[in-house]
Amino acid sequence: MTVTAVFVRVASVDEVPAGTGKAVTVDGQQVALFNVNGTFYAIDDTCTHEEASLAAGAVYGEIVACPKHGSRFHLPTGRVLSLPAVVPVSTYQVKVEDGQVLLLPVPQRGRGMPHKL
Ligand code: FES
Repeated sequence: MTVTAVFVRVASVDEVPAGTGKAVTVDGQQVALFNVNGTFYAIDDTCTHEEASLAAGAVYGEIVACPKHGSRFHLPTGRVLSLPAVVPVSTYQVKVEDGQVLLLPVPQRGRGMPHKL
């Protein structure tokens, strides 16, 4: 049987101000949503190093720094840019309609390579 994923509303645009992140739960999966100057990105919320919420990390343009040990992740690709994490995070497709942020709960894995932008 084939299951067709559909976009799910996860937040309103106003809930995620530019330059910030917000953790949301979709299909039981914790996802971190980010607003980069009006463009929204979504990655796994849990850092691949240890248990830390990336949604709580500082955002520098298209990069988020893990709040626990500082590994940086590239939001569009999920790539790891600095140690101690070495494994990329999954990304998710996001779109905005009528002021609502919609997310496709299908992880995109393997798009990034560690340590390279
Ligand atoms: S938990 Fe994120 S870098 Fe260690």
